Formats: sequence, structure tokens, C-alpha cells
Amino acid sequence: MNKNKRTKEWVLALLFIFHIAEIVSAQTAMINIQSRNLTSLNGEWSVIIDPTGSGQWQQVWLEKKPQKKTDFFEYSFQGAPVLKVPGDFNSQLCELTYYEGTVWYKKEFNYTIQTGRRLFLHFGAINYSADVYLNGEKIGSHEGGFTPFQFEITGKVKAGSNAIVVKVNNMRHKNGLPGLGYDWLNYGGMTRDVHLIETGNTYIEDYSIQLKKGSLNTVLGWVRLNGMRSAQNIRIKIPELKILYKARTDNEGVAKVEFSSAFELWSPESPKRYMVIIETETDTVVDNIGFRSIEVKGSKVLLNGKQIFLKAVNIHEENPNKGTRAFSKEDAVLLLNTAKELGCNLVRLAHYPHNEHMVKEAEKMGLMVWSEMPVYQHIEFADSSVVPKMEIMLQEMIRRDRNRCAVTIWSLSNETYPGTPGRNKALAELTKKCKAIDSARLTTHVINTQRYENNSFDVWDTLHRHADIISINEYIGWYIPWQGLPAAAKWKLVCPEKPVFIAEFGGEALYGNRHEPPDEAAYWTEDYQAKIYTDQIEMFNTIPNLCGVCPWLLFDYRSLGRMHPVYQKGYNRKGLLSDKGDKKKAWYIMKAYYKGK
Ligand code: GCU
Repeated sequence: MNKNKRTKEWVLALLFIFHIAEIVSAQTAMINIQSRNLTSLNGEWSVIIDPTGSGQWQQVWLEKKPQKKTDFFEYSFQGAPVLKVPGDFNSQLCELTYYEGTVWYKKEFNYTIQTGRRLFLHFGAINYSADVYLNGEKIGSHEGGFTPFQFEITGKVKAGSNAIVVKVNNMRHKNGLPGLGYDWLNYGGMTRDVHLIETGNTYIEDYSIQLKKGSLNTVLGWVRLNGMRSAQNIRIKIPELKILYKARTDNEGVAKVEFSSAFELWSPESPKRYMVIIETETDTVVDNIGFRSIEVKGSKVLLNGKQIFLKAVNIHEENPNKGTRAFSKEDAVLLLNTAKELGCNLVRLAHYPHNEHMVKEAEKMGLMVWSEMPVYQHIEFADSSVVPKMEIMLQEMIRRDRNRCAVTIWSLSNETYPGTPGRNKALAELTKKCKAIDSARLTTHVINTQRYENNSFDVWDTLHRHADIISINEYIGWYIPWQGLPAAAKWKLVCPEKPVFIAEFGGEALYGNRHEPPDEAAYWTEDYQAKIYTDQIEMFNTIPNLCGVCPWLLFDYRSLGRMHPVYQKGYNRKGLLSDKGDKKKAWYIMKAYYKGK
């Protein structure tokens, strides 16, 4: 074979590989999309509910139309029901309440793309997996229900009308993140915003503009461009501080950023943010960025160099009044205002990254954010696909919120089982990767393996060695009766030098439920729940290095395994408030505790 022919073969092979790579996995999404040239695709999408999965072999994305009189197809988006996007599908159609399966979504849009411009299809999140088609051609897939992803469709979008078809499937996977078992309603669907994003040929894909670890006045970060014109002059401006920082990206499109200033630091008491303008020769984005320092020094957590007690509360991503997956700014404001009213300075967004509105609104309100990977309970760490999935999800979680100073803690797992093959190694590696990607935040793993015997806690799990903070879930007084006086509890820590955070405690109560005597758990009374809280608060005084507490949880929320027909009705009733927003007795106990801290 002559040399030219061989070269041509190689080039074709490489193009094929890149083409496959491009259509197989979604790209990690560009950040700060609100500052971009957006076209919203939110609204009504036509849907085909496909419980048998037959839409796959029928290739519904092709939308075949009868050609001959004898032709017919047993699907159609014409005349199909519609669902609102963003939003879970379970709460929109009665027949989908408990549905875990495939729903095909379709949306048409008109677009005319100018030359020299690029077009991306961006999804805030889809739970759990998505196969995305444009005009009958598969453009890619994504797995993971709680992080953004995108596909470049520059060369695929037609002038005039285009059709997007998305195969959404919320079935659980043994090697999924989370796995098969979790204590919340498995809301499926296109649960967050969908946009078209138009950029120039070379755009600002990603940047990190935060204080250097341990510094109160120096920003250490970078800007990354995407496109052919990788080497460009860039400028970072903070008008309020009269900062104009100039740099030049290298041939990889990356520029290091380092500058100092007397920043007014962000804190819960004073959630100061600055307008930051990032300018290149071909793109400009504007962000509102706060600057703060979070670190652990010995057994203390320091915010901006001062010790802080983390007054937290757990929140699931659910609008309690509607019983739906939360997705909007209004949902976020409802949940976060309630946390503020409780007296919190931190919200644990359990057990997966929440939508971007939650993080941005928390930052505005002065609430620190604990963002968590859905590495929940039983995970198949030894399955070869799981570690790569965790790494992609970690990248997606951190990339989206890396410039959100309110995010102070990355939680990398919750209640995983020590005996699971590969668990310790996988989570130790994940922690290392997290710190390598983002050194300016704290990491933790939430554990509930501690032994509780003779009113003594033995916190032995070696996973704590890899975390900055020892985070513990314990339900003494609910799942496990007290074995002595709460104020006499003893503690033994595997890492006695580290801060200890009680990431979950509490118990269930049906709002308004009273029963005499009040000391019987089986009646879901408010009095019984209140007693759990007073006992827990007494026990907190025995915990060495206690850096914060976090009741489980703010509102009663939907979880289908909670089946008591009188007291639960498919709700986990551990809320400090009912799903209608009624404050239980425990709410007032917790509020008083935080007021006194
Ligand atoms: C666990 C778990 C929560 C769960 C809670 C409960 O600690 O982390 O997701 O809802 O206990 O049992 O209510």
C-alpha cells in the first residue's frame, strides 16, 4: 500500500474514533451558562411512555412516517401527551407516579446558525440516563441524574426546524450512582433546565477564580478556552476593586490567574459577592463571585481564619408542598428561607448535587453549601465501570460549582458499607482526585458504622483518615434506643485530632400527632420526636471536637419505602416541618439550640 493511501486510512480511522467518542459520551458542560447566548428549550415536550422498552427497536427517534397505504407504526409523537420540562415525570401524570422506566421526550426548534458560531445542547440534569438524538441521529448519552452535560451540535443543526428526541430512563442500576437502594423518591425525567448555547469559535469553557487555600487576599486560579484560537490575551476585571488582571492563554488555551486584593470576604453574616468580568479576544462572561477561606486547623473548622460552628440542616431536592422534584429558583428560595429561619449557616444538600438555583440562592442568602456525590450506601465499587463513573460525576459536580464560594464541603459518600470489596481504595482515590481538582474546599465521607455499646461510641472506620472532617450519621433515640444518659455518652475516635460533624440525627413524627404516654415510638408523635432532639442536644456536649450538627431533615419528604398507612403514607416523616410546612415541636427545640450557639 503506498504511503499516501496508508496515511489516508489512518486519518479516516482517527476521525471515526473521534466521531464515536463524540457521540458516545457527553461533554462536561461549560460553566456559567446564564452569562451566555442562551435559547431556552424549557416548556412542553411531547412524550411517549415506553414501559416495555420497545421504542428502542422501533427506533422512535427516526419518527418513521407511513409511505404506502399498508404502512403503519405503533408509536407517534403527534397526538402524544406532553410533559413540562424542567420537571420530574412522576408527579405530572398519575400513571407515572411510581414509574421507573423509559420515557421518550421530543421537542422541535428552529435555529439559524451563523458561520463562525458554535452551538451546544445543554442539559442541567436528566435522571437517570439519557440518550440524545438530533434530527434522527444519535449525538450521545449521559449517565447520572444530578449533574449538567452538553453536546456540541454545530455541524448537525439544520437551518429551519430541528427535532430533539431524548430517551430518559430512571431505572436503578446495580452499578449505578446511586445503586439499587435509596431512601427518596426516584424522580425521573428531564428534571432541570434545557438550553441551546451559542458561542463564538473559541469560547471561555471553564475558569476558577477563588482564593488560594489558606489565603485571605490572593486569588489563584485559571481560565480555559475551547476552540482553535487557543492563545489569546485575556483580562479579568473586578470593577468594584479596580482590578484589571491581564494574562495570555497558552497553546492549550489555558492561562494561570493570580492576583491579590483587599477583598470584603464572603460569610453567612455578610455574603459579599463581586461582579467579575472575564474577557478574551473572542468571548466575555460575567459572574458574581464571593471570596472566602475555609480550612481545618487541628480540630477546628475556620471560615476566613475564624472558628465557626456549622449550624446545618439536611435538605432533599423536593418542593415539599407540591411533592415534586425541586428545580426552580422559587423552590430553592422556599427551602433555603426555611433553613435560614431555623438559624442555619450551612445546608447539606443530600444526597446528590442539587440544581444550580439552590447553590446560587444559598450563596446570596449567606448559607454555606455541603454538596454531595450520590455514592450512597450499597455501591458496587469493585465493578470496573463504577470508579470511572464516580470520577466523571466528581468532575461534573466540581466544575459547575467551583466558583461558588458558598460551597465549602464536598461530601464524597454517604453510609457506604466497609465490607464492600473495593470501597476503601475507591473512596480514598476519589478523595485524592477531589483534592487535586479543588484544594480550596473541605472533603468528607459520611459514615454510620460507629459501634454504640454501653452508651459509648467507637468511631473506628478508617475511611475517616482520608477526610478533613469526620462526619457521622447516628439515630440514637430512634433506630437505636439510648443505653444510658445522653449526657454521659463516651466517645472514641479513630482520628482524635479531626473535627467531628453529626451529619444526621433525628426521628419521625406525624405533625399534630399526640399520644399518651408520649414515650412510645410506634405512634409517630411529636412529643417522642421532641424528646429525641432534647436528648441529642444533651449528648452533643460529650462529643470531642464537635464542629457542627445537621438534623435529618428540614421537611417531610417522599420515600416509597415508608409505608405505614396512617403515619407515613409514602413519606419519611423525620422533617422538622411537615410536607405542608407545619412546624413540629422539634423545630422549636432545634431553633433554640442554634440561637444559643
Ligand atoms: C440514613 C440516610 C438517609 C435516610 C435516613 C433515614 O442515614 O442517610 O438518606 O433517609 O437515614 O433513615 O431516614
